[in-house]
Parts: sequence; C-alpha cells; structure tokens
Amino acid sequence: MRHARISPPAAFRTFWPLVSVNRAAVLVSAVLLMVAAGCDAGAIGIVGVLTDDVLTPSDLAAFWGPAALWLGLAVTGAVASAAGGYLAGWTSEHFLLGLRDRVFQHLQAVPPDALDRFGTGDLVARLTGDIETVESLVASAPVELITSAAGAVVFAVAAFWTSWQLALITLSAAPLIWFAARWFGTLMRSATRAERDSNGRLATLLEESLANMTLVQAYGRQQAERGKVHREGRNWMRAGLRQIRLSSVYGPTGELVETVSVLAVIGAGAWQISEHHLSVGGLLSFAAFLGYLHPKLQELGEIVVSASSATAACERLIEVLRTGTVRDDAPRPEVPPLAEPVRGAVTFEDVGFSYPGSGRAVLHGVRLAIAPGLLVAVTGPSGAGKSTLGKLLLRFHEPSRGRILLDGRDIAGLPVDEVRRHITLLPQDSMLFDGTVRENILYGRPDATEADMIAAAVAADAHGFVSTLPDGYDSPAGKRGNNLSGGQRRRIALARAMLRTAPVLILDEPTAGLDDDSTARIMAPLRRLTAGRTAFLITHDLRLTAQADLVLHLSDGTVTMTAPGLSARTGPEPEPEAA
Ligand SMILES: Nc1ncnc2c1ncn2[C@@H]1O[C@H](COP(=O)(O)OP(=O)(O)OP(=O)(O)O)[C@@H](O)[C@H]1O
Ligand SMILES: [Mg+2]
Repeated sequence: MRHARISPPAAFRTFWPLVSVNRAAVLVSAVLLMVAAGCDAGAIGIVGVLTDDVLTPSDLAAFWGPAALWLGLAVTGAVASAAGGYLAGWTSEHFLLGLRDRVFQHLQAVPPDALDRFGTGDLVARLTGDIETVESLVASAPVELITSAAGAVVFAVAAFWTSWQLALITLSAAPLIWFAARWFGTLMRSATRAERDSNGRLATLLEESLANMTLVQAYGRQQAERGKVHREGRNWMRAGLRQIRLSSVYGPTGELVETVSVLAVIGAGAWQISEHHLSVGGLLSFAAFLGYLHPKLQELGEIVVSASSATAACERLIEVLRTGTVRDDAPRPEVPPLAEPVRGAVTFEDVGFSYPGSGRAVLHGVRLAIAPGLLVAVTGPSGAGKSTLGKLLLRFHEPSRGRILLDGRDIAGLPVDEVRRHITLLPQDSMLFDGTVRENILYGRPDATEADMIAAAVAADAHGFVSTLPDGYDSPAGKRGNNLSGGQRRRIALARAMLRTAPVLILDEPTAGLDDDSTARIMAPLRRLTAGRTAFLITHDLRLTAQADLVLHLSDGTVTMTAPGLSARTGPEPEPEAA
C-alpha cells in the first residue's frame, strides 16, 4: 500500500474542518493558559524585587506588599491553569468523539468488499489509536503551540527587560533546538508509521486468530498461530524501540544545549555584576526567567517532533477516508424518483461486471426483465456470480457495463438508501448480532408488531425452536449468534429478511444448513411470503427451483432462463424475457 504523505499543517487543514469544534472553548482555554503563564512570569519578577528590596537591606516591612502580590498572582495563575487545562481537554475529547463518528460514518458508506483490504483489527486500530494521535495533533497541539509560544515570548521579553545581553546569549540556542526538532521529527514520523502499521497488522492477526479458534484448536495449529503472533509482536516491539531510542536521545540533547546556555549566562552574568551593569537580584530573576523559558523552548521543540510523528497516524486515517464509497451523487434529473408503491420490476440491461482490481469479468451481457411478483430461482455452479447479482442490485458495486432498473428507473441514478429500502437481502452468511433473538429478527424493521414478528418466525420455521429457548424471543443469541446452531441462525436470519416489507427479496441460499424437514416446512410459508413480491431465490435445492416461476441459470458470466412454474400459475401472465 502506497502511503499518502502529509505535513502537519496539511493534516490540520484536512481534519480540522471535518469536525465542528467549539471555537470559543479553544480560544478561552488558550487565553486562560496564557494568563497562567503571565502570572508565572509576574511571580518571578517579584523574586528580584524581594532579593533587592527585602533580603539585601534586611527590611521586613518591605516584604508584605510583594508577598501579597505574589500570592494573588499564584492564586490567579492556579485558577486560570486549572480552568484552561480542563477546557483544552474538554475540546480535545469532543473533537476525538466527533472525528471517530465522522470516520465511522465514512466506513459505513464503503462497499463491504472494499474494507477487506484493511483487515478488521487494523481498522479498529485506526479508529482508536490513530484517531487519538490525530486528535493530539489537530485539536491539542494548536492550543499547546499557542500557549507555549506565548509563554516563550512572555519569558523572553521579561528576560530581555532584565538584561538584553544575557537574553541574546540564551536565545542563540533557539535555532539549534528548532533544527534538532525538525530532524528528530522526520525520523520520528517514519518510526511512528512503522509502529502504527505493525500495530494494525498485529490487531488483524489477533482478531482473525481468535475468531477462528475452533479451527485452530481442531487442527492443532496453536503453535503456528503463536509463531505468527510472536513474529508480528516482535516487529511491533522493534518499531516501538526505534521510537524509544529516538525520544531518549532527543530529551538529553535538549538538556545539554540548556546546560551550555546556562553556563554561558552565569559567566556573562558574573562579568556584568562585576561591571555593575546588573544586580545579584537581577541575575537571580534572570536565572528564574531562564528556568521557565528553556522548558517552553523545549516544549515547542517537542510539539514539532510529536506533530511530525502524528502525521503518520493522519496518513493512515486519510487512507481510510480516501477509500471510495458507493457513488451517491445527487439523484440525476433524468431519473425521476420511484413511484410509490414500488412494484418490484427488475431489469438487467446488458450488465457486465468485474470486481475492482481483478481483470476477470464475473458477469457479461446479462439481460433480464423480471415482472413484479415473480419467484425467480437463481442457480449455477459455485463462483458463477449468483451472489454478485445480489450485490449489484443493492448497489454494493456499480456494473462495469449496462444498467440495472427497478420499476424502470436506473438504480445508479437513485439514492442508495432509496434502492436498499425497497430490496431485502438475506446474505449468504447468516449475520447475527450479540443481542436477543427478538432484536435480531426486528433488526430490519424495528417497529414491527409482535404478531408480525411471530408470523415471520413461523414462516422461517424458527418459531418452534425459539419457543423452547429458556427466555423465548428474549434469549440472547450470543456473540455472532454463537448460542444457536448453524441451522437455527439461518432461520433467524430468514425470519429477519421476511419481516422486511420490501417489494424485492434476494434470498441467498435460504435453506443452506437446514435439514429436509425444515426445508420442506418453510417452502409453503416462503411461497406465501414472497407472493406479490419479486423474489430471487439463490439455491441449489431442486425442491425450491421446482416452486419457482422462472429459473435463471448462471454460468460463464451469462444467464439462461427457463420457466417451469409459469405455466402452472394462474393470473395475469408476466412477460419474462432473457437473452
Ligand atoms: N470481493 C471480491 N473480490 C474479487 N473477486 C470476487 C469477490 N467476491 C467474489 N469474487 C469472485 O467473483 C466470482 C463470483 O462470486 P459469487 O460470490 O458471486 O459466486 P456465487 O455464484 O455466489 O458462488 P457460491 O455458489 O459459491 O456462493 C467468484 O469467482 C469469486 O472469486
Ligand atoms: Mg454465493
């Protein structure tokens, strides 16, 4: 994967507008933190006054005024620092929440297949660790930068005011600190990128290995899996150690520069005192200002280093944000909205499709015109493209050629939500959530009545076994539906699909994993439930195909059609056609 390269200001410009931040809070916190720095500076100035007016002449009467002022400044500084720090943290946390919501929203619009290139664990790492790092750069760093820079300016001005010669000596270290920070920042960025990527790979590996634990244990592959986890863990450790090496060199380097500068100041200060250009109190004040100025300069350097390092996380998030979503432009004017009620006529006009990145055409020249209300069985060898037909109808992908029409409207010109509202998919894998059986059945239509829910469960042959569960419909399905058997999960998923009242149904292998009795039991209700809806039944089961009005046979990317059930049906004759 090629990395997007981004600088800290560009990262700021990319992410800052994504989240609406309370700008007043940012401003107020910056002002409060600057007030706190100002109070510190004022207090240090009083050290000089106390030395020269109280200590040197041993005049206790002169003590109370400066002491009260110092106390006042200390209290104001403490309050401003606490309030400013809290407000800055508050903004950061809200920014983090908003950014995660925003990135997650983007992920939800990406076709599921396109997310596979990341790996679930890696995506989790990007949505947690990387997002926090982006927050530290985009929301926290600017406030820190402003307050540290303001603090540095305040202390530098105070230092100049005390002795401009000594201040010049001190500030000559600043460019050195700056260049060191830039250099370390560049090294840190590539170390951080390696660390973040390795963290993502480890998370994906762990997620996959834990999810497949049954297979791992049954096939005795624990050692191999441990080896993989250890190797990726070692990569992560090495990347982490590189970061640690860099930051452990950076800190002491800064301190060395500081020591040299302090020695230079003391030497020059001693000379100034001997020449009577400076009092001892003045030098003490100056040294105290220096004690505050140097950490500020160090902080500025650290912000530069950590901002450069944080761009690695920004790049990883930008990769997610750049992953294409389903095109959902404003509906095209030439495609009028669907007329309600939607009848469910489905047409494929010369549709061709290959998966992105694979040159092989899965479908080519598929032409179908399915009249509303037909039960269409879709058959064909494994890998022929049956499930792909369903994904195209739901606009998980756009056809590479041709058009798909719903009630005569090109679905590519309709809003994605609108298309999906009228089409119900029963995916090939039963996907259950960690909730109750009831919540799982109601997932696609949360406002359905109890009677409707039970009718769907009866139709899917699920009502019988659900009634025997300890808490009936309120029994927990378990993580990924693990409390249920494979066939039970299938029937819950089928009930969920049947409960949706969309005019088009795509049932991908509805009877997979069901025994003969169950299959036989659901056929009549299935027929009843699909009545009046256009239903695509992807199946290898000959008993189901025998029930169908039309049978589509998919092979070599094209469709051939027979109509076994049509002659047996009464009512208005639909007009199927195929080519
Ligand atoms: N996300 C994907 N990326 C690339 N190729 C894919 C992807 N999904 C499926 N394919 C390929 O497209 C072809 C059709 O897959 P599809 O899942 O539609 O087959 P199917 O007819 O439903 O098979 P089955 O009966 O086994 O479910 C297969 O050859 C498969 O390798
Ligand atoms: Mg399939």
